[in-house]
Formats: sequence, C-alpha cells, structure tokens
Amino acid sequence: MSGVSERVPQKTFYLETFGCQMNVHDSEKVVGTLVQEGYRQVPTVEQADLILYNTCSIRDKAEQKVFHRLADFKKLQLQGKKFGVLGCVAQQEGEKIFERAPHVSLVCGSASYRNLPKMLVQLDAKPVEAGKSESRKPDPASLIRITGLDDRQTDQCFETEFTARSNPHRGYITIIEGCDKFCAYCVVPFTRGKERSRTSSSVLAEARQMADRGYTDIQLLGQNVNSYKDPEGKTTFAELLAAVAEIPGIKRVRFTTSHPRDFGRDIVEAIDAVPTLCDHVHLPVQSGSTRVLDAMQRLYTREQYLERIAWIKAAKREISITTDVIVGFPGETENDFCETLNLLEDVGYDGVFTFKYSARPNTPSLSLHDALPQGEKSRRLEVLMARQKEIQLQRYAKYVGTTLEVMVEGYNQPRDQWIGRTSQNKTLNFTASPDSAPKLGSYADVLVTRSFPNSLVGQQAFGGSRWK
Ligand code: SAH
Ligand code: SF4
Ligand code: F3S
Repeated sequence: MSGVSERVPQKTFYLETFGCQMNVHDSEKVVGTLVQEGYRQVPTVEQADLILYNTCSIRDKAEQKVFHRLADFKKLQLQGKKFGVLGCVAQQEGEKIFERAPHVSLVCGSASYRNLPKMLVQLDAKPVEAGKSESRKPDPASLIRITGLDDRQTDQCFETEFTARSNPHRGYITIIEGCDKFCAYCVVPFTRGKERSRTSSSVLAEARQMADRGYTDIQLLGQNVNSYKDPEGKTTFAELLAAVAEIPGIKRVRFTTSHPRDFGRDIVEAIDAVPTLCDHVHLPVQSGSTRVLDAMQRLYTREQYLERIAWIKAAKREISITTDVIVGFPGETENDFCETLNLLEDVGYDGVFTFKYSARPNTPSLSLHDALPQGEKSRRLEVLMARQKEIQLQRYAKYVGTTLEVMVEGYNQPRDQWIGRTSQNKTLNFTASPDSAPKLGSYADVLVTRSFPNSLVGQQAFGGSRWK
C-alpha cells in the first residue's frame, strides 16, 4: 500500500567530487546536510533536480574539468534542473562562475557549507525559468544566483551539523582548515582561507562517536595538518594523534598532509609509543634542490628535509614514507632536477605523487617566467616516475614471505581477490578460502606471496609471526 509520503515528489540531487581528501570529506558533509533538508541523493545527473560539483583548483586541468562538465550538461537546464558549484573553484572564482557558466544558480565555497540549508531555501523559492519547449533558451537575467562565500576569512567553525560518511568502517575528521604557508605555486591559501583549528575536545568527541558507531580507522585531515593548534590549548598535534589513537575500538589512525617545516620529532615519538598510529608519513618535499625550494617559498632546505627523514627512519617501527614532487617549477634547471632524482634514492620512498608545475591565479609564482617547454616538463615527469618505479619494485619485493595485517576494504569479483590495506598504507590483494571469507571492514593476517611496484599480493594466513 502506498503512503501519502510516497506521492510527495522528493527533491533529488547528484553530487560529483573532484580533488583531495578534504573535498571528499566536505562532500560527506554536504550530503549529510542535504539529506537532512529532505533531499535524496541519486547516482545520475539525469535523475537529479539539483546537480552539484564539488570542485578542485589545484592545477589548471582540474579547474578546466569542472567547466567542461558544466558545459556537457548545460542542456539539462531546459528540463528545470539547477546547477551548483561548490569547493575550491567556487571560492576562487566566486561570482565570475555565473559569467562563465550562466546556467549555474548556486556558488558555495567550502567555508560556507553550514549555510547550505538557508541557501537551498532561497534556491527553492525562486524556481529556474525552465524552457517550455526544447528550443526556448532560458534568459540568463532570470536565473537565480546565490553565493555563500562570505565567511571565508572568519574564524567560524567549518563543521556542519550533519555528515553522511560513505564508508561504515573508515572515516575522515577535519582537524584544521586553510593554510598560512603561501607556497609560491599554490592556490590553497586563497581557496581555503587562513588556518583555523578545531578544538581538541570536539575532535575527540567526534572520534569517540565514530568508535561507538563501529569505525576502527580514522584519518585526521588538514591541508597542513601538523600546524594544528588547539584553540583550547589542551594538546599539541602529536598529543591529539595519540589521544585519538587510544580511544577504545580505534585500531588505526592516519593523518595527512604534513608540512616538513612543522614536522616535529614528537610525531615520530607518538607513532613509536602508540601502536594504533599507522606507520606511514606523507611528507611532501616538492623538490630536492634547496635553490628551487627557496623559490617555491617552502621554508626548508634539502638538508632540513633530510633531517626529518632521519628522525622517521630512526623510529622503532619501520615507517613508510611517501611524498609529492612538482617538476618544471619556473627556473628549475637540469641540475636542480637531478637533485630531486637523487633525493628519491636517498630517502627510498614507498610512493611519490608527481605533478607538472601549473601556473595558478593569485599565486606569487604566476609572475615568474614559466619558460620550460611542456615537452621538457613531460620528459622530467617520465624520468622521475621511471626512477621511482624501480625504487618501489625493490622496496615492495622485501615483503614477500612476510605476514602483514590488513583492513579488508573490498572484493574484486572477477579476480576472486580481497582488497586489503596495510598499516603502512600499501594495497595488499589476497585470496581466502570460501569458508573463511573475511568481512568488509574486518582485519586479517595475510602472507605476502608476490610484489609489484604499487601493490602486494598474498593469501590469508592463520597463525605464524607477523612482521611489523
Ligand atoms: N598541503 C600540502 C599539499 C596540498 S596540494 C603540502 O604542503 O604539501 C597537493 C599537491 O599538489 C602538492 O603537494 C603539490 O605537489 C601539488 N601542487 C600544488 N600546487 C601545484 C601547482 N600549482 N602545480 C603543480 N602541482 C601543484
Ligand atoms: Fe599549498 Fe604550501 Fe599550503 Fe601545502 S603548505 S597547501 S603546498 S600553500
Ligand atoms: Fe583541490 Fe582544494 Fe583540495 S584546490 S587539492 S580540493 S584543497
């Protein structure tokens, strides 16, 4: 029997997310807020009344993708659908988005998601003038335009009241928003505003609530996570890490992204002291040349970076290290690039995210002469990736024959393989006999039998010693 509520058409939304973990988690906050406001999430643009893009502006390509996507679906406006742009491009471009994509009705930056309910009411109150026939174009002047960009520079809390986490076992908690570093190439200080930390009490309350709901794996997030400063003055970043990791029920705690300048020895000491803190540090270096680091305004030298690596390597547990590198920053010579290449050898990274320099609006390096041809940037990128692949081949091979604990994250049906993640953040795909098939979100011991440059393969193990 159908109830009255089923006859009331429920407003629907489609949300697509670009960018980093911060954006992925922001989208969970947006979904939580919209669901609370009576919207239902749908998997396709065609099914949705409201189409939202949570955008990234870190490189030009990422920004272009958003405008292409908006152009692809422009015709859907004729069916009365509304479009919204959220996230970093929204914050960066603001009202200019309405000029570039006149069918957009809503522009909302990441500091303003708490205001979404109010903005949705405004959006609802003024329906878009949908074309009565396919041939009638909507009059841009009649479109509603709502921006929610006002609280970017305030110290107001960036949390929303509701969050709809998409994974029931592993979840993010934002502990700090924004960035005050102003690296010469980076848009983040402009798209995310100044640094604001959450109180340790509210972070711990959220982590405890997650543990009560069955979460065992928590990742603490911030563009610059280790410049966290507790507004209550109760804990340092390292103490907060340990406090979250000691919550009963929590088995794994990760954090990203660390800035080398703010990376203290106490973080390594915390990892050593608390086994539930994962043995992985992502420490972006950007370049191995002190000259380029200086031009990038990274606030550390190659030697200072290597000093932090030495602290990490001196830990009791083997801590996996990953990084980000930009090639082709204005003025990068072949010699500078070679210094980056040999830094890869010196450190022995387990993973490197490599990017070609992309000139971004508002950033100091926009005024530098970006003379290196695209072809040369591509060559450097390829050389760097090939070198790193060799390093990873060797590094991953040493796990063969050892037993590692994984969290079970998925199942690959065509391969009949479970997908696991180690504490060191390595992917370990494994087989298990049908009578002992693991559950998603559970933990299993896996004997590693093969290695690749980016992943390990194994079979579920019972008993035996574990290698940490
Ligand atoms: N807060 C982090 C990084 C955030 S952005 C840090 O300080 O390291 C993620 C990565 O994107 C950066 O580490 C950098 O390698 C890359 N990146 C940022 N701006 C870029 C640009 N203009 N061109 C190319 N890569 C860029
Ligand atoms: Fe960007 Fe630098 Fe801030 Fe990282 S530390 S977000 S690279 S400005
Ligand atoms: Fe992109 Fe914004 Fe993250 S620019 S990388 S989504 S902070």
